[in-house]
Amino acid sequence: MDVQQTRYSAQEISALARQIDRPIVLVGMMGVGKSSVGKRLASILDCPFVDADDEIERSAQMRIPEIFETYGEDYFRDGERRVIARLMAENEGCIVIATGGGAFVNAQTRALILEKAVTIWLDSDVDTLVERTARKDNRPLLQNGDPREILTRLRETRQPFYAQAPIHIVSGQGPHVQTINKVLQELTQWL
Ligand code: S3P
Repeated sequence: MDVQQTRYSAQEISALARQIDRPIVLVGMMGVGKSSVGKRLASILDCPFVDADDEIERSAQMRIPEIFETYGEDYFRDGERRVIARLMAENEGCIVIATGGGAFVNAQTRALILEKAVTIWLDSDVDTLVERTARKDNRPLLQNGDPREILTRLRETRQPFYAQAPIHIVSGQGPHVQTINKVLQELTQWL
């Protein structure tokens, strides 16, 4: 996706990008589109993009389902916390970071992100999350039980944490460019 597809001009986008002096961190439920939106946003702003889940897999040299299966969720969460702390320490300027759905629940990670980044909560209704997560079977938390029930419960329990992000964007079932336009609008107002 390039600048032309948004409702902003190239000049407006580069003026916005110049003002971004810290990481933009996307938080929210699995399936909401943090990675897809994050990649496109980074390319429009001409900033790097990092997916924290990919970084965890790279450091552990294992896929996420394998980490859960072999060492359990607590071990994964510990790795997740350390990887995000490293990403926040290594990156001060403009970079877009997509986090795993549970990362922002950790108090230390949440405090660090809120202090050092512009945090954006991407939010969708449960139907959208169910539809989008059904496209891949790489999410261990959805393997044991009914995904709709699990997603509904997790969305409810995590909401108070996500709601601490200063920017809240509802991402519907439409094309990602709609969400990107909302993100650009919010960033313009926030900066
Ligand atoms: C998780 C979300 C996943 C991944 C792991 C746990 C969660 O990331 O970190 O499967 O607890 O919600 P995505 O949100 O990118 O799917």
